Amino acid sequence: MASLQIDDLCVDFGGLRAVNALGFTAAEGTIKGVIGPNGAGKTTLFNAISGFVRPSRGSVRLDGIDISTLASHERASRGLSRTFQNLQLIPDMSVLENVMLGSHASLRAAWGASLLGLARREELAAEALALEKLELLGLADRSAVPASDLGFADAKLLEIARALAGCPRVLLLDEPLAGVPLEEQNRVVEIVRAINRTGVTIVLVEHNMRVVMQVCDEIVVMHHGAWLAEGSPADVAQSPEVIAAYLGTAHGAAPGTAPGTTQGTAAGAAYPQTDAAGHGTRGNHA
Ligand SMILES: Nc1ncnc2c1ncn2[C@@H]1O[C@H](COP(=O)(O)OP(=O)(O)OP(=O)(O)O)[C@@H](O)[C@H]1O
Ligand SMILES: [Mg+2]
Repeated sequence: MASLQIDDLCVDFGGLRAVNALGFTAAEGTIKGVIGPNGAGKTTLFNAISGFVRPSRGSVRLDGIDISTLASHERASRGLSRTFQNLQLIPDMSVLENVMLGSHASLRAAWGASLLGLARREELAAEALALEKLELLGLADRSAVPASDLGFADAKLLEIARALAGCPRVLLLDEPLAGVPLEEQNRVVEIVRAINRTGVTIVLVEHNMRVVMQVCDEIVVMHHGAWLAEGSPADVAQSPEVIAAYLGTAHGAAPGTAPGTTQGTAAGAAYPQTDAAGHGTRGNHA
């Protein structure tokens, strides 16, 4: 298990400050939700935490150790993995091969170990690890099919399986439910919980407020890149600032009050609930 600590983080794109002096902690072994209206900066935050964009200021700490200057693969090898809002699967490769792409063992094999005659052994280890992750996610029986054969919910799970192949202690999930049909959402939610039970600290970005309220131990709310509120799901749902932030956007609505409900908020607005097509959750910046 591990903790993740963000301090005073800023990310600038030209004149746009997409993440603005943000700070929060995801405590060891917990599920921390990160919510906010479309464009609030959630995916950019994940990009900065995982080393895909360089912050202009601030720090990211894993178990108290500053990893802000490390390359993304170095962060991954220290136990930080992420999924992408827009699926980053390779459609022509098999399900198993897609998962193996996430394992350090397969990378080592590809880049150097062949010189020592270790490549095959590393590859077999990566394969066994990938299969183990596919078992956990209920996809083992589909390991040989091309990724393009999977339905959308399974494709989202495959994206998670690939992140798990890096054996993360902290896992960043960017909208794992976006586009997943309603009847399959529980399957994904149960898997997120199962991963957490194995000791993985999870940071969850998700627009489906019913799920966020049910699974998160704590939630931090972003608005225009900045910290707006933080606390238990019940506290955050009742925060007047949070409700106002959601009501002030075209797509968003207040995150509601009661865990487990699907409609209705203190302000009488609908949740920013994703529908089967994931509308209201678009973004192309992963
Ligand atoms: N690479 C980039 N270059 C320029 N601007 C960017 C880039 N990535 C993101 N942005 C901008 O930064 C802001 C935050 O975007 P981001 O995708 O992080 O929001 P988000 O909270 O993930 O939104 P959504 O809920 O729609 O996924 C937006 O104004 C977006 O247009
Ligand atoms: Mg996003």
